[in-house]
Amino acid sequence: MSANPLAPSWLAVPDDANGLPAAVWSRNAARSESGELTIAGVGATALAERFGTPVYVVDEADVKARAAGIRASFDREFARVGSAAKVYYAGKAFLSTEVARWVTDAGLNIDVASGGELAVALAAGVDAARLGLHGNNKSLAEIDRAVGVGVGAIVIDSRIEIERVADAAQRHGRVQPVRLRINSGVHASTHEYLATAREDQKFGIPLADAADHVALIRAHPSLQFLGLHSHIGSQIFESDGFAEAARRLFALHAELLEGGPVPELNLGGGFGIAYTSVDEPLSIDEIAVRFADIVAGGAAELGIPVPVVAIEPGRSIIGPSTTTLYTVGTIKDVLVDGAATRKYVSVDGGMSDNVRPSLYGADYSVRIANRASDAEPALVRIAGKHCESGDIVVRADYLPSDVRPGDLVGVPATGAYGWAMSSNYNYLARPPVVAVLDGEARVIVRGETEEDLLSRDMGVTR
Ligand code: LLP
Repeated sequence: MSANPLAPSWLAVPDDANGLPAAVWSRNAARSESGELTIAGVGATALAERFGTPVYVVDEADVKARAAGIRASFDREFARVGSAAKVYYAGKAFLSTEVARWVTDAGLNIDVASGGELAVALAAGVDAARLGLHGNNKSLAEIDRAVGVGVGAIVIDSRIEIERVADAAQRHGRVQPVRLRINSGVHASTHEYLATAREDQKFGIPLADAADHVALIRAHPSLQFLGLHSHIGSQIFESDGFAEAARRLFALHAELLEGGPVPELNLGGGFGIAYTSVDEPLSIDEIAVRFADIVAGGAAELGIPVPVVAIEPGRSIIGPSTTTLYTVGTIKDVLVDGAATRKYVSVDGGMSDNVRPSLYGADYSVRIANRASDAEPALVRIAGKHCESGDIVVRADYLPSDVRPGDLVGVPATGAYGWAMSSNYNYLARPPVVAVLDGEARVIVRGETEEDLLSRDMGVTR
């Protein structure tokens, strides 16, 4: 079959429109003998019947394996260069108490970006010493709580925060370990909103001002300087940007060593994942090899010891684990420019459960989940049910052309920044998050009900 002219140039007609490319789907996603999608041995139909749709289905073993895998790769590679690595899971990608326990049991620390994320990690029973707190505008209350419970690191993002954290530490009679976030000026090749180290943005401190800031930190007896921090952006596929950021930070790191200890260097997160079959992210193993080489090489060049490196991946641990199941409601064949037809398949969720396509133009892929089909592939657009034409779940993919109302469809790789950025737009209730493992399914975050939606409206009379 030839490609539909409305399809983007990167999208090929698949050989098998039922196929589940391993790079995109969670590790335990498969087709049963009958052709149904199963995840960790649980069928899509059973999931939809029991939990309704939309539903986020998390492949628990996948998350645990990725968390353990990243730990093992970085341990191995940094041991090779005579140092060690600390891995923080960036909870902003998706945090619940269960997930917090999965990743800490796998040996990871957790990076939290607000008082709310801190509360979830603490509610999970995570040792505060394994938490790092981020944010360009932490409130005094957030700083106070973080210091009070004894978080292992606070990433200082502005001059004004040095005093705020120092005061809180003094009040609590603690010495608070801190990092200093640097804006390295590196332009990561990703969406503008996801790039966090260009000059003209709100995060971090310019390289040129960093030494002064570190001197201020060192002057406070209630603060302990851990080292510099850089996060260049998110969904990054190449290691060049990290290498450049590390190179820029290294010169400063070496200079700072002259004034006292600088035990660590934090290079942030941002490792990309595959959302469609044409995405080819680096493997975590390869990233670990390159990071160790970059850091060891930089240290050798400057004649300084290889620092302990901290990283903060979120998406690469949780993103590939989750599939969102939707039910198809309506279908329209829309003739575009009198030339070609695009099949609009509308589902029972949309930008409220996954805002990434509308916010960033992010591409996803889709498969029919309740059955396999031999019908010719047809170009589809999966649309949501919100009152906006930009409410798109999957901009372009091919599905068997007999896709029909009542079918279930699965959208893979929705684990990062899906539930985390969900909303109640149009008063849609947030879907539940269901973990599947070894043939069993259980709710780890319950879905919202109509009662939840009304519960904060003070004018409800009955
Ligand atoms: N560390 C810091 C300081 C960060 O700001 C972030 C992400 C991470 C680590 C984790 O990055 P990851 O490994 O997950 O890429 N909502 C956007 C992504 C925003 C990322 C914000 N910061 C999206 O949906 O693509």
